[in-house]
Amino acid sequence: MDHEILSRYNSSEGASDYTGKFERHWTERVNNWNEQRLLKRLLRSVNGGARNARALDLPCGYGRLHSVLRDLGASTIEADWSFPLLEAARRFHTREQNSGSPLGYVRATALTLPFKDRSFRIVLSVRLCHHIREHQERVAYVREIMRVSGEWLVFTYFDTDSIKNRTHEWRRRYNGKRSKWTLALDEVKKLSSTAGFELVDSAWVSKFFSGHRYVLLRRLNSAG
Ligand SMILES: C[S@@+](CC[C@H](N)C(=O)[O-])C[C@H]1O[C@@H](n2cnc3c(N)ncnc32)[C@H](O)[C@@H]1O
Repeated sequence: MDHEILSRYNSSEGASDYTGKFERHWTERVNNWNEQRLLKRLLRSVNGGARNARALDLPCGYGRLHSVLRDLGASTIEADWSFPLLEAARRFHTREQNSGSPLGYVRATALTLPFKDRSFRIVLSVRLCHHIREHQERVAYVREIMRVSGEWLVFTYFDTDSIKNRTHEWRRRYNGKRSKWTLALDEVKKLSSTAGFELVDSAWVSKFFSGHRYVLLRRLNSAG
């Protein structure tokens, strides 16, 4: 895990910066809207809706994706490492009218989740993987979110083969920036099948402007 990034999110300045991120500029509001639409589309595959299903949203940040799970009928645990962001999520959900509150808020690290195997029918994990510096930790993280998912798992990662990453790598020759912390789709597929999941769908946040990829996985021997 990158400690600098982690401490930034766990500080009140970092948390309030992230809480305002998708509101500051109209382009960010559009990005947020698009991302929520994409997530709703992916989750359409969740058969029979998710009425009363237990879901985990980790990391929840300030809780911007909770409404997508709520609209599906799921009861969600919002979890994150950052205390200030968990507080921000609580405030955000209280402010939203008729929002239907989450089941609870849990402080947890994604690398060792305090939940039993298959605790949730749906696990959502957005925009964390690319913050994890070491490749083996990214893999451990993916295994951990798979472990707690009883049926569905949606997560994002920064894709090695994205146009954004290829361009970044090419530019690195001149600007000396670090490489992005990525995974490749083949690797995600291998991890999935080893853990008993199949890849149902995947989608770019934006094919040209973002290297983030959403994947939807389903456990092959789930009860659902
Ligand atoms: C880019 S934000 C994404 C939040 C949310 N999923 C969203 O899309 O708005 C990254 C989040 O990861 C959290 N985080 C960073 N390291 C973590 C860890 N090891 N375990 C759990 N949460 C972590 C941060 O506190 C922050 O809320």
